[in-house]
Amino acid sequence: MKSFFEKIGKFDHLFTPGASYVREPITSSLEIAHSCFNAKFWPQYNAVKYAIPYINPTGSIVLMSGAFSQRPLADGASYAACNGAIESLGKALAVELAPIRVNVISPGTIHTNFNWEGAEQETRDKSYDEYTNMNILGRVGHADEAANTTIYLMTNNYTTGSTLFPDGGYILR
Ligand SMILES: NC(=O)c1ccc[n+]([C@@H]2O[C@H](COP(=O)([O-])OP(=O)(O)OC[C@H]3O[C@@H](n4cnc5c(N)ncnc54)[C@H](OP(=O)(O)O)[C@@H]3O)[C@@H](O)[C@H]2O)c1
Repeated sequence: MKSFFEKIGKFDHLFTPGASYVREPITSSLEIAHSCFNAKFWPQYNAVKYAIPYINPTGSIVLMSGAFSQRPLADGASYAACNGAIESLGKALAVELAPIRVNVISPGTIHTNFNWEGAEQETRDKSYDEYTNMNILGRVGHADEAANTTIYLMTNNYTTGSTLFPDGGYILR
């Protein structure tokens, strides 16, 4: 990470959506319980740590969380805690790194390729149908709607320490 940012040099905005993890109940293995902290929380923490010297003071950071932090289901205590931790990390870093702004995007279910490798189309459709019934707007979100939120957080110069939820109202149901 350190040598990556050295090579890049100065830049304006850091966004850290890369992640891979498994969400399972608390009775599952430690490896699964640790997977979201290992491959979603700490990589974002470290990316910020090593990027700071290169982010322009008028720039910003957007961390990636997930609305499961606010409305967990009964199969992912560690994942819910991980997203809650990322949302708190965003607030703490906004205080520590000002004038660089730090915000968090915490989406509901969005159509992407995440964790679908090898899954039957029927399985994907069933899962999306279930999430459709769990939010107010009655549909799953699209990647451009999450991207739009991220661009807002990057470009609104008076927004820092905020978490936005493009989730179709998932956390209110
Ligand atoms: N989709 C949703 O419904 C949803 C909802 C809430 C939150 N989120 C969050 O959104 C983020 C992105 O998910 P997505 O839905 O956009 O999934 P995605 O389409 O599968 O994208 C995940 C990306 O992360 C990269 N990646 C995976 N492991 C990595 C690693 N160890 N280091 C660096 N990059 C890695 C993948 O690269 P490769 O393709 O090269 O493997 C891929 O480009 C995740 O943090 C997820 O928790 C998603």
